[in-house]
Amino acid sequence: MTGTIIAIASGKGGVGKTFFSISLATALAQNNRRVLLFDGDLGLANVDIQMGVVPQNDLSLLLREDVDPMSLVEHNKETGIDFLAGPSGSDTYANLSAGELTLLAKKLEKLRAHYDDIIFDLSAGVSKTVSILASSADKILMLFTPDPTSLTDAYACVKVFHQKKVSDRVSLIVNMALDRVQAAKTCDTLLRACQTFLQIKPPYLGFVPRDSHVTMAIRAQKPLLLHAPNCAATKAVRDIAQSLDLD
Ligand SMILES: Nc1ncnc2c1ncn2[C@@H]1O[C@H](COP(=O)(O)OP(=O)(O)O)[C@@H](O)[C@H]1O
Ligand SMILES: [Mg+2]
Repeated sequence: MTGTIIAIASGKGGVGKTFFSISLATALAQNNRRVLLFDGDLGLANVDIQMGVVPQNDLSLLLREDVDPMSLVEHNKETGIDFLAGPSGSDTYANLSAGELTLLAKKLEKLRAHYDDIIFDLSAGVSKTVSILASSADKILMLFTPDPTSLTDAYACVKVFHQKKVSDRVSLIVNMALDRVQAAKTCDTLLRACQTFLQIKPPYLGFVPRDSHVTMAIRAQKPLLLHAPNCAATKAVRDIAQSLDLD
């Protein structure tokens, strides 16, 4: 088995990466896939908060050559997801050197042998951490919203991925759109900039509507797909999981 690494990226923070990572991971696990979710927002980890779990393992051990990363994985029965998440607010990871980040990425890549899909919930922007983790990903899902600053930052991010020669792995997802029309318009704006200035056209995977169930699920610290299994945002995430066309 060789799992696909799917990195969830964005230009701006607060566009829904963590919500989307947990929801996508749950959707894939519900399709009987073996899924690992890694909280890669190293300074501001909050997968645990949104999932309502308290991580038991010390993730700083991931940086030790002699520690098998599989021994640090925890399982969440409700969603069926395995996860590697640090406690929120922990600074274990906040300032890793390039060498440490490369070791971390290598360790995570070893886990491909155990999973169908490995999802990285990245931090916003293109820090050293994001570029090292994204470079080991097979797919980079760029999330953005109709908010103009989110669009501008998404373009800046795609541009850096293009310079780093990984833009061919990027696909686009619009989150928090009012409807399909607004989502398509938002995506078009980004695509026009990509085509004009970078001569690339990343595929549009779809959109997740703005849905009050998302906020309610996060407040309840429950994964959306369990909290509101039939809401519009859940359905949209399931559709996107299908359109990823994973083996
Ligand atoms: N589809 C959506 N509909 C409504 N609210 C959303 C949606 N996606 C995200 N949000 C809101 O955006 C906030 C930020 O989401 P989060 O996943 O923490 O973003 P990020 O990880 O990108 O910083 C959430 O607390 C939630 O209230
Ligand atoms: Mg986040």
